[in-house]
Amino acid sequence: ARLDQGFRQCFQAILGNNTTSEVTFSKSSSSYEPLLNSSIRNARFLSSSVPKPDLIVTPQSLFHIQVALLCSKENNLEVRVRSGGHDYEGLSYVSHVPFVIIDLINLRSITINMDEESAWVQSGATVGELYYAIAHKSKVHGFPAGSCSTMGVGGHFSGGGFGTIFRKYGLASDNVIDAQIIDVNGKILNRTLMGEDLFWAIRGGGGSSFGVITAWKIKLVRVPSTVTVFDVSRSLEQGATDLFHKWEIVAPKLPAELFLHVVVGVSNSGSQGGKTVVVSFTGLYLGTAQNLLPLMQNSFSELGLQRNNFTQMTWIQSVLYFAGHSINELEVLLRRNQTSSSFKAKSDFVKEPIPLVGLEGLWNMLLLENSPLLIFTPYGGKMSEISESETPFPHRKGNLYGIQYSVNLGSKEEAPKHLYWIRRLYEYMAPYVSKLPRQSYLNYRDLDLGVNQRKMDYETAKSWGLKYFNKNFERLTQVKARVDPGNFFRDEQSIPPL
Ligand code: FDA
Repeated sequence: ARLDQGFRQCFQAILGNNTTSEVTFSKSSSSYEPLLNSSIRNARFLSSSVPKPDLIVTPQSLFHIQVALLCSKENNLEVRVRSGGHDYEGLSYVSHVPFVIIDLINLRSITINMDEESAWVQSGATVGELYYAIAHKSKVHGFPAGSCSTMGVGGHFSGGGFGTIFRKYGLASDNVIDAQIIDVNGKILNRTLMGEDLFWAIRGGGGSSFGVITAWKIKLVRVPSTVTVFDVSRSLEQGATDLFHKWEIVAPKLPAELFLHVVVGVSNSGSQGGKTVVVSFTGLYLGTAQNLLPLMQNSFSELGLQRNNFTQMTWIQSVLYFAGHSINELEVLLRRNQTSSSFKAKSDFVKEPIPLVGLEGLWNMLLLENSPLLIFTPYGGKMSEISESETPFPHRKGNLYGIQYSVNLGSKEEAPKHLYWIRRLYEYMAPYVSKLPRQSYLNYRDLDLGVNQRKMDYETAKSWGLKYFNKNFERLTQVKARVDPGNFFRDEQSIPPL
């Protein structure tokens, strides 16, 4: 309690009583719990046994952030910055030492400049709000970020950010052209002032090691006025294994305009009502159904797609479609509230097609679990044209596809069983995925890969740092040493200063 009082006194001395009670919330405030829980996307971290922040600050201006950093330092409180709260391991709102959350919920303006085909987006905006704002201005512009509309721009952009048009345009972070960050000394820096190495680091290296990124300037991309989507599913009995094997070879080589990902789960629709694996092939084509039909028939005829499998729509409708919403309800994109389940996820990258025997073993693993969900995302296209060192995100040329494994953890009592299963699955996949290092996607944060100890050291951090960043890890530690040598911005997987 003393720490939060000290913080509030410090805040009050600079900003006065009114502002302090409007933007700082300690455990005794009735707003504290609803605010804390409002953007917890993994219900695993809602539990009362998870450590809670001493204070939550919801800055309304950059000055409030500067003061919050100062007062945190003075009171030895660690800082966690939260934008959309979608971190898989809850790192934006959980810490095991006394801490403050700087929650950017009030800093979410979006300013679009159609002449320049660019936009400034504050970190507290969601990607849904961004998509909505773009569609409001233009039917032929879009932005290549992820599918889930409630994700925060802050975490998503700083860790990479891929979605249905990334084979054509690259990651969200590949399309950032300027940014605004508040550093450990409270200085507000744009691209010129922060320098190219820090600007490089925050486009894929994760924001939490470097400062509070308050806004991003992005380049909008041009999308056609008509796009086409499709979604077909096949069970094991319907030949899913051979189709998946063909997909592994075909999907990464398709034209960049065509994104064809695969979602795999289990259902009770197998022979005699038994359990089976169901493989869904879901696509987005930046063009018309008429042009897509010959493309699919020539490259992947086994899927047997006909004209009636395709639905034409606008790009913004495809955003709704992939987020699982009705395509005519644009306002859904502005909704920030969200349901959350308790889950664990892990990721991999694949460089050689998995042989049939490997796939059969994988399906057998899935049949052991109630609600496994695997998403296979094809790479290639623009992703292969960007060099591995262009940004900290190293998963470029040579990757056929990425995998996300996830499982619903159910109740607290059931969770260990499901965690055991997903870790075994990860072990099973080792022979078939990238090696030395086995690579992972930072935005699919996985603390199983390793965590910083109290006293951070480079060797420990390498265990996960090389997986997320490969050869870029070293450079990230150098940038960290320059901009935050005292390691103020830290968490379980932040970059240690070299
Ligand atoms: P959150 O606020 O939890 O922050 C994540 C991390 O970034 C934390 O370490 C936090 O401290 C730091 N951070 C946040 N804002 C910051 C700021 N302003 N300055 C400095 N550091 C900051 N990914 C993807 O690429 N494509 C996809 O389609 C999806 N889909 C998806 C669906 C669902 C349901 C979930 C839960 C997640 C995804 N993701 C994803 C993963 C997503 O990209 C990842 O969780 C992002 O980090 C989320 O960003 P938030 O701002 O919401 O998270």
